[in-house]
Amino acid sequence: MRDQLSDAEWLIRESGFDPLRANTFETLLTVGNGHLGTRGTLEEGWVGERSGTFLSGVYDSHDATVIDLVNAPDWLPLVVFVDGVRLDVETCETVEHERALDIRQGVLWRRTIFRDRRGRRTRIESLRFASLADRRLCAVRLEVTPEDHSSTITVESGIAGRRRNLDRLPFYPEGTVFDPEVQWEKWAWSNHLRPVTVDAADDMLYLETRTIAGGVSLGYAASLDAGPEPLRRRLRLSAEHAEEQADFVVAAGETLRLDKLVTIVTSRNHPEPVQRRCLETLQGHRRTGLDAALSANRQVWESMWNDCDCQVVGDPVATQAVRFGVYQLLIAANGEDPTVNIGAKSLTGEGYRGHVFWDTEILMLPFFIYTQPDTARSLLRYRHHTLPGAREVARESGFRGARFPWESADSGREECPRYTTDGANRFWTRDEEVHVSADVAYGILTYVAATGDHDFLVDFGAEVLFETSRFWVSRVEHDPATDRYALKQVMGPDEFHSHVDNNAFTNRFAQWHLDQSVQLYEDLSAHHPQALRSIEAAIGLDGAEVRHWREVAERIILPIDPERELVEQFEGYFERKDVPITQWDANNMPRYPAGYHHFNCEDTMLLKQPDVVMLMYLLPDDFTAEVKRANFEFYEARTLHKSSLSPAIHAIMGIEVGDHDRALEYFYRSALVDLADNQGNTAYGIHIASAGGTWQTLVNGFGGLRLRHGRLTFDPWLPEQWEEIRFRLRWRGNSLSAAIRQRDATFCLHGPAAATEEVVVAGAPLTLTANEPATVSTAKGART
Ligand code: BGC
Repeated sequence: MRDQLSDAEWLIRESGFDPLRANTFETLLTVGNGHLGTRGTLEEGWVGERSGTFLSGVYDSHDATVIDLVNAPDWLPLVVFVDGVRLDVETCETVEHERALDIRQGVLWRRTIFRDRRGRRTRIESLRFASLADRRLCAVRLEVTPEDHSSTITVESGIAGRRRNLDRLPFYPEGTVFDPEVQWEKWAWSNHLRPVTVDAADDMLYLETRTIAGGVSLGYAASLDAGPEPLRRRLRLSAEHAEEQADFVVAAGETLRLDKLVTIVTSRNHPEPVQRRCLETLQGHRRTGLDAALSANRQVWESMWNDCDCQVVGDPVATQAVRFGVYQLLIAANGEDPTVNIGAKSLTGEGYRGHVFWDTEILMLPFFIYTQPDTARSLLRYRHHTLPGAREVARESGFRGARFPWESADSGREECPRYTTDGANRFWTRDEEVHVSADVAYGILTYVAATGDHDFLVDFGAEVLFETSRFWVSRVEHDPATDRYALKQVMGPDEFHSHVDNNAFTNRFAQWHLDQSVQLYEDLSAHHPQALRSIEAAIGLDGAEVRHWREVAERIILPIDPERELVEQFEGYFERKDVPITQWDANNMPRYPAGYHHFNCEDTMLLKQPDVVMLMYLLPDDFTAEVKRANFEFYEARTLHKSSLSPAIHAIMGIEVGDHDRALEYFYRSALVDLADNQGNTAYGIHIASAGGTWQTLVNGFGGLRLRHGRLTFDPWLPEQWEEIRFRLRWRGNSLSAAIRQRDATFCLHGPAAATEEVVVAGAPLTLTANEPATVSTAKGART
């Protein structure tokens, strides 16, 4: 099976089994398809495993402090016994162990050689994938070779329905660093699943469970097909577990091959009962076989990479890291389901309980908009789908319209906990980090600008923009003395400062959002009056209300002083204590100054992550180059990067303002966040926002892409040691490839023969004609 893998540059490898890193590899080696993600746990498991299959949109609140993305039944279990001896890392000696995730084809390969206590060597190879061609299908091919013995080989294949989510870690006075074998046992867990059906017929296992609070049925069917007929097959069925065992006699040096196919169908995606659908789907795949499924999956991967491959020529580490991020983004999203989104750890782990944040619109969405626009559309439809929940969030806090929650799950209601699990600290994000509604508006309008999909605005976008505009005008406070509007008691993206007034990011974004809504209203009334009338009727909107939006936008306080270079992050920020950062870790990232931690930086100027700098990235035409440089220098010196979202934005803005050395450090920090586990928590799931940020660093940072006045503009800069960066973009129905070198760049528009597109490169316009590559200088002012 090894020879089916792609070249080494596409492989993410694990060599040897190390219990200290095993949970991290479980995250890194996740396979998925947007409908589900399955952590890279060994098929036979190990005592310290934190396995998990997560089904997109399957959340449950039963028995937990906060609603969870359910750790769903596990389809993986596949265990080999040699004359009754279990082959696993505890029972046997692991002579060799190697795994490789092939991110080009979306398959995980494994080879392990076990030596049991009687000295017998048995080689296990496997190939695993979650199909992108049929998202209901997962598969493992297993090959067992007794290298130096002839024995009875028993293969046990199961579906494990008894699953638990991590709920909270109790207080342990002696600290919370435990041996890897027991660390998960130290948690309090929650149960979200009730057993429904367990069954076996026609050599197929079936297990169905149902989420307890939400009532979502999860059906799993599994088959195990082998070349030779087994001597015996045994079944073991219990309420929460379905399993079959098959015995074979295998001679020394011979290889036994088995294919396990599993289909997963839920009542979220199919009308009940799910059992029939699940079994019929499995039967269909058994007929065509694993090889056909593998090749169908490979074809989808190939076409996806066609749209989004990127490369850093001259830096294989960077290429691998960027592609790894792209792989993770591709397995996180399901463009076929507009009711789901991407949680902060995608479908790779339980971190942040699978909740959806602004991470999607600001960090990840650009990748989808510019490479997989249909998926971007679907991710944005989720916000429309959860609008009723967002209306509730606004209403509950005494405001009009809709406010998207800080943490969203299946309904759009606020799911952010109020307190840390020890009860010691209050999360103000849920109450005050209101900018998320404008972030969603930003995502929608960027999508429409890049795709030209105006129907989206008419069908979904306008309602979202209008309802959230209503929230802003009810949330602002009017000061009759100055006739200005303030936004008080908010928290900006930085998150170290709560209850602040007039945060520059939030106020400017709210203003921008209102301006865009007014503009959209006018456009619709000019070009789609009928559609506007039905939106107005549906949400009770009229022109007078829209005029008020304009008034508020004109008079909202902006703590941005044209006379002054520095933008004050919020009112009074400059009076806070200027505590210097004096220590850096091994990755050259800042440490908290002595005595400070996440919850006590309020009265300092320290930042968790970019706020003003983020604003300057998102609204590039608002600020001059000098202002951007001055603010970057000022805020960079005070930013601790305690969020994985932070380094990518600093990399991009560092490039823009010419702080190249630091920008490059930030790029690697972002790109390697999981591969190097540089935040120390990859075991809990991938930092998927950082993957999106890394892609943006390549394209918007080094490639210098900005969307300006409806045109793609590129202002590239490459580090000396890089020969070339390559990436592909989708733009208004066509695609565009870019190859950027030290002094020049080649762009090619791919599309129908007559198509042309004007882009701007290093300040000068360039007209591209379809399928005719154009090479131009990237030196500023070289072309006029
Ligand atoms: C960051 C937020 C982010 C969240 C989820 C937090 O640590 O501060 O900006 O949305 O993580 O990734």
